[in-house]
Amino acid sequence: MELSQVSFEPMNEVHNKEAEVLERLLIAIKNRENLDNVYDEFVKDVENHFSFEQKLMEKYEFFAKIPHKMEHNKILNELEKIKNHLNEYENLEKYFDTTFLPWLNNHIATMDTVTAGFFSQIGAKI
Ligand SMILES: [Fe+2]
Ligand SMILES: [Fe+2]
Repeated sequence: MELSQVSFEPMNEVHNKEAEVLERLLIAIKNRENLDNVYDEFVKDVENHFSFEQKLMEKYEFFAKIPHKMEHNKILNELEKIKNHLNEYENLEKYFDTTFLPWLNNHIATMDTVTAGFFSQIGAKI
């Protein structure tokens, strides 16, 4: 899966890892596999992805850190709720196709792109 690139390389690395884990999850959903483990791994990866960005935003006092964190929290809440419905494969497919993937692409193209531009401009170090 191709996610758009941002101007701060450490964020691209985190996004590429997430694309890999997400692909595994989507295949497992498609194949109607037991999702308990792969879904847990996916949520942990999303949490790592978001906390990586949030720690840097705090460290460098990024001006939009609060709205950026709010976007993360909104989607994390949805992912938590879905945990109790992992056997509803059709709903899961629909959620990832129509909500999560468009959200992720849009988030990277907007909020993450601006945040990455800030990090690279100030020479942020991880
Ligand atoms: Fe991100
Ligand atoms: Fe983000």
